[in-house]
Amino acid sequence: MDAQAQIEDEVRRRRTFAIISHPDAGKTTLTEKLLLFGGAVREAGAVRARRAARHATSDWLELEKQRGISVSSSVMHFEHRGFRINILDTPGHQDFSEDTYRTLAAADSAVMLIDAAKGVESQTRKLFEVCRLRGIPIFTFVNKLDREGRDPLELMTEIEDVLGLDSVPVNWPVGGGKRFRGVYDRLRQRLLLFSGGEHGTVAVDQEIIEGPPGADEVREALGSFADEVVESLELIDGAGEAFDRGRVLAGEQTPVFFGSALTNFGVLPFLENFLELAPPPGPHESSEGPVDPVGNPFSAFVFKIQANMDPDHRDRVAFVRVCSGRFERDSHVLHVRTGKKIRLANSTLLMAKDRETVEFAYPGDVIGLFDPGIFQIGDTLTARDSFSFAGIPSFSPEHFMRVEVAEVMNRKSLEKGLEQLAQEGAVQLFTEPGSGTAAPILGAVGPLQFDVLQHRLASEYKVDLKLTPLPFTTARWFRSEFDPEIFRYSDATRVIEDRQGRPVLLLKSEFYLQRVLEKNPDLEFSETGGF
Ligand code: G4P
Repeated sequence: MDAQAQIEDEVRRRRTFAIISHPDAGKTTLTEKLLLFGGAVREAGAVRARRAARHATSDWLELEKQRGISVSSSVMHFEHRGFRINILDTPGHQDFSEDTYRTLAAADSAVMLIDAAKGVESQTRKLFEVCRLRGIPIFTFVNKLDREGRDPLELMTEIEDVLGLDSVPVNWPVGGGKRFRGVYDRLRQRLLLFSGGEHGTVAVDQEIIEGPPGADEVREALGSFADEVVESLELIDGAGEAFDRGRVLAGEQTPVFFGSALTNFGVLPFLENFLELAPPPGPHESSEGPVDPVGNPFSAFVFKIQANMDPDHRDRVAFVRVCSGRFERDSHVLHVRTGKKIRLANSTLLMAKDRETVEFAYPGDVIGLFDPGIFQIGDTLTARDSFSFAGIPSFSPEHFMRVEVAEVMNRKSLEKGLEQLAQEGAVQLFTEPGSGTAAPILGAVGPLQFDVLQHRLASEYKVDLKLTPLPFTTARWFRSEFDPEIFRYSDATRVIEDRQGRPVLLLKSEFYLQRVLEKNPDLEFSETGGF
């Protein structure tokens, strides 16, 4: 096979996605089941044990250890029926941060995991908004069907009302709670009945009965559920929207699957439909138009930088998503922002368990590059002429702090440290124009970002910070001209500037945003600071 054909083949079989969910919806459990199908982990609990270690405590020593090992759990990959699947981890508990959003920039699709009893929750909504900005397809898995949950039709209506996304059930549940028996697969016109389903088992028994819902064999297998299921399916066929893969790929319609990750009911049918329906790596937007994954030399962009918290090992890892061509270890590529040629020697592929050196990688893959301090979020690497991928925007922080140094003498180190860490994307840095105070304002998506920052400034720059919380929860970038006087006497808002000098409005809550817009209908805002 020639090189081009090989790249084409590798691209076709790749599926790179992230799971978006609210804590406790079952992301770890689902990930573990998916990895079990691919044989990437042998025992159940491997993912869980790692997570337990990560979240055991936010004690400093633990945090250091955690930063050391969490690299390996950032990307998991496995093979299933000829597909190569990359799951990008989206940190979700205390370590929810801007990195969680940035990871979505490297995914080709997202799996939205919803707890059947809880519906669409806040963190899922935020992550969904980021997916919507990118227009990536979203596949919904409604989890915990083995427990009493909400009515499936009601959940689908909630997805439509809360997210404004059309939902089409691909699998429809048979029973629910203790009486959850299986799903009817509408696309393949077949009934799947499950049994077994011990936590951790792969070999759940799955009985398949082919045929439309009304067929005698299917009705017979449905038993006492027959009337209920056939009626619901008729209702959906008649009143619901038809499945349309084009709309799914455009991010306008979400296929919905029902199941239980814990008991392994419905995970395999979900995976197999997902692999068929989800897109392989596609073209990426750049300064020179879309870059096709095949037919172009190697190119990639940095979407996340992770620093090692251990002062003896001040290395950082830049997470790089391959967009076109083939990555080859030791090759020389152009680092576009600095114009320098660099050698990609220390590449580690980030595996479920261990770091392993990568010789080759293809579009859709994520590699970790040792970073001696040259990379920034959004940087482009390429083996061809200079061009840049569309940048990764800054997302609205939800926590804000004013910074002061304990010792005035340290101001220079502080400025240097903050600038460096902001460049790395560890925190967002703002200033307040005309406030007469030079003390900067820091913004973060998750509060742990401040802990990391304080720790790193102390160990790397020998600066002790004093952080004072500010009462704001929302930031919006101005997209229209405005008169700063409007905000002058309000405690609920404040105008500040980001590192690029772009004006940003801080608000106590989204409620005030509505008020500002009602009073000043000409104002326009953006939820993200673009590039
Ligand atoms: P997360 O990563 O999204 O935060 O969720 P995680 O998988 O850790 O699951 C959160 C809790 O929900 C766990 O229970 C897990 O066992 C449970 N869970 C996940 N999927 C299902 C499901 O399909 N059905 C039911 N009934 N429960 C599910 P826990 O009590 O917090 O932990 P553990 O004691 O089970 O480890």
